[in-house]
Amino acid sequence: MALRASPQPLRYHTLGLCGRIAWTGYHQKETAPGSRQCKGSATQSLVTVGNRKNHIARAIALAPPEGENAVMKEVRFPKLVTPRLLLRAPSERDIPAWFARATDVESASLAGDPVPDDISSGKQWLARSRQRLADGQAIQWSIDRAGISDAIGTITLSFSATDAKAAALGFVLARAHWGLGLGGEAAREVLRYGFETLALEQVEAEAAARNSASLRILAKLGFKHIGSFIDESDGEPCERFVLVGGNWRKDRDSNPDGLSASAL
Ligand SMILES: CC(C)(COP(=O)(O)OP(=O)(O)OC[C@H]1O[C@@H](n2cnc3c(N)ncnc32)[C@H](O)[C@@H]1OP(=O)(O)O)[C@@H](O)C(=O)NCCC(=O)NCCS
Repeated sequence: MALRASPQPLRYHTLGLCGRIAWTGYHQKETAPGSRQCKGSATQSLVTVGNRKNHIARAIALAPPEGENAVMKEVRFPKLVTPRLLLRAPSERDIPAWFARATDVESASLAGDPVPDDISSGKQWLARSRQRLADGQAIQWSIDRAGISDAIGTITLSFSATDAKAAALGFVLARAHWGLGLGGEAAREVLRYGFETLALEQVEAEAAARNSASLRILAKLGFKHIGSFIDESDGEPCERFVLVGGNWRKDRDSNPDGLSASAL
C-alpha cells in the first residue's frame, strides 16, 4: 500500500476529524501537509475565502431557519430531511450524546478521532462547530432519528482551503444505530445538498482500510478510490476516495436506488 495518495490531496479546513478527513470539531491535530487531517491552509487565498463565504451564505439563506443560538440567529442553518432523519444545527443539548459517541473507543479508532478526557470537551466541540460554520469553513449537522430523543450522530462537510468547489465528507453514528443504513441515508442527503445547492464539483472522503461499513457506504454512493496512505497520527492504513458532481448526478439518474459500482 502506497504511503501517499496520488494525485496530491487537497487541503481542508479540518480540526481533528470525523470520517478521517472531515472534522469533529473539538480537537485540533497538528499534521503535516498531505496527511489526512489537514488543517486550514496557510496558502489559502482571500479570494477563495470570500467566494466560499458567499457561496455558503447564499445556500444558507435559502434554507429554513434554525434559530437555536446566537450564531444560528444570524445565519439560516441548512436543515436537511430524509425519510428517517433530520439533520440540523448542533446545540448544547447534543453535548452528552456527543461525549458518549466520542468516548466509544472502537468508534473513535475507526474514525481516527481522539478520545476526549471529560465532557467539558463538548463545549469546545460545539464552539468550533459554530465557528467553522460562521467562517464558512465547514457545515456540521447533528443527526436526529425519528422517535429518538438524543442526536444519534454527526455528519460534516469540510470545505477545501484551496478549492472553492471541493469539500470533504465525514460521519459518525452512535453504536446503537449502526447497521441500519442510517449512515448512508444521511450521507446521500448531504451529498445532494453539496452538489445541488452548494454547486460543489467534488467531495472527498477517507476511511481506515479496516472500516468496512464506511468503505461500503462510500462505494454505494459512487465514490471512486484514488489512493492509499498511512495516517501519521495513529499509523492506520487508510483509503482516499473522491466523488465528482458529474458522477453523482449520473449515478442518481441512472439508478434510482443510488447503488453504483464499487471501486473496491
Ligand atoms: C461508519 C458508520 C457511520 C456506518 O453507518 P451505518 O449506518 O452503521 O452503516 P450502514 O448500516 O449504512 O451499513 C453500510 C454498509 O456496510 C455494511 N457493513 C456494516 N458493517 C460491516 C462490517 N463490519 N463488515 C462488512 N460490512 C459491513 C452494511 O451491511 C452495509 O452494507 P449494505 O447496505 O450493502 O447492507 C458507523 O458504523 C459509525 O459511525 N462507525 C464509527 C465511526 C466511523 O467509522 N465513522 C466513519 C469514519 S470514515
